[in-house]
Amino acid sequence: MTAPPDELVAAARRVHAEAYCPYSGYRVGAALRTDVGVVAAANVENAAYPLGTCAEAGAIAAMVALGGRRIEAVVVITDGDRPGVPCGGCRQRLSEFAGDAAVVHCLVADAPEVLTRTVGELLPDAFGPADLGERETDLEM
Ligand code: THU
Repeated sequence: MTAPPDELVAAARRVHAEAYCPYSGYRVGAALRTDVGVVAAANVENAAYPLGTCAEAGAIAAMVALGGRRIEAVVVITDGDRPGVPCGGCRQRLSEFAGDAAVVHCLVADAPEVLTRTVGELLPDAFGPADLGERETDLEM
């Protein structure tokens, strides 16, 4: 599969360094190549633990705020000694805006290992807009 695009790795690294994660100590940076350019965000935790947000969720919110509706590729950078993959909830969030073929590259901040998967591999048989029938979205699938 393709190598992680340099511009996404650079953007994910920048936000990974800014993660607010005093409770888990686990920094995550996510960068998306989208129809409105590269957007990126880090995880943001909260003293009220369940209110913390994942990096991918923040990046998707930033994309939508810019008018974006399409994710073409993703880079996630985590701490740890092996690449951290998007959580189940974030797989669903990514799937809303990315086709099955979109590629997700998972990197560790301080190691060369890369785990590369398609969105379809991460979330097979995804539930999506089509399951809701004739409801209108502004997604171009
Ligand atoms: N986290 C993410 O940012 N993305 C994921 O897909 C998995 C988990 C964050 C949430 C929390 O701040 C920390 O990683 C530990 O779970």
